[in-house]
Amino acid sequence: MELLQKKIVEEGIALSETVLKVDRFLNHQIDPQLMSEIGKEFATRYQDEKVTKIVTLESSGIAPAVMTGLVMGVPVVFARKKKSLTLTEGLITSSVYSYTKQETTDISMSNKFVDQTDRVLVIDDFLANGQAALALIDLIDKAGAEVAGIGIVIEKAFQDGGMLLREKGYRVDSLARIASLNNQTIQFATEEET
Ligand code: G4P
Ligand code: NA
Ligand code: NA
Repeated sequence: MELLQKKIVEEGIALSETVLKVDRFLNHQIDPQLMSEIGKEFATRYQDEKVTKIVTLESSGIAPAVMTGLVMGVPVVFARKKKSLTLTEGLITSSVYSYTKQETTDISMSNKFVDQTDRVLVIDDFLANGQAALALIDLIDKAGAEVAGIGIVIEKAFQDGGMLLREKGYRVDSLARIASLNNQTIQFATEEET
């Protein structure tokens, strides 16, 4: 997606060889106009997929997910992150292992909002090692729903997540794919055909 690439070039910062800072438009300050275009793009790509619901993870996935839900005319559910989980009726949980933080976080979602009648589009801001996406897929599986695909705003193609998900047979649509962040330079990979 050209507009997104332009934004990444102009406002993104390669913090290290593995981390891209995009807090000027995605992770802290949010650019609503860009999010709206991102929503339209995901909606166009998934228009024939009979999507009934969008599932994302708080917090940075919410903005692109809501814009996509608006265009597709479907509700958006965000999985919650919690330190300790009190047993609550109908709460589905899964664990996300973070390689960077080397810790496991539980995420949860109510079975009231996703069930076996749903075909779900997963949306997230970043795809790195894929652990967050896999945990979201696990929640959707546990709810008995189907995964239509995974829509990612920025994929770090030099990390394993994209390969992992595609190898499992999931459709993954990344609107920008970063090939490398070496030497403080942001290099893009070509968009993968899905
Ligand atoms: P991992 O693949 O290295 O294990 O990454 P991890 O799950 O630990 O990711 C931690 C957080 O950092 C996630 O957001 C993830 O989306 C984000 N992230 C991963 N790589 C990058 C990157 O290169 N740049 C930026 N800006 N973020 C990255 P989170 O903690 O869930 O935060 P948020 O959704 O509340 O913003
Ligand atoms: Na994030
Ligand atoms: Na996220």
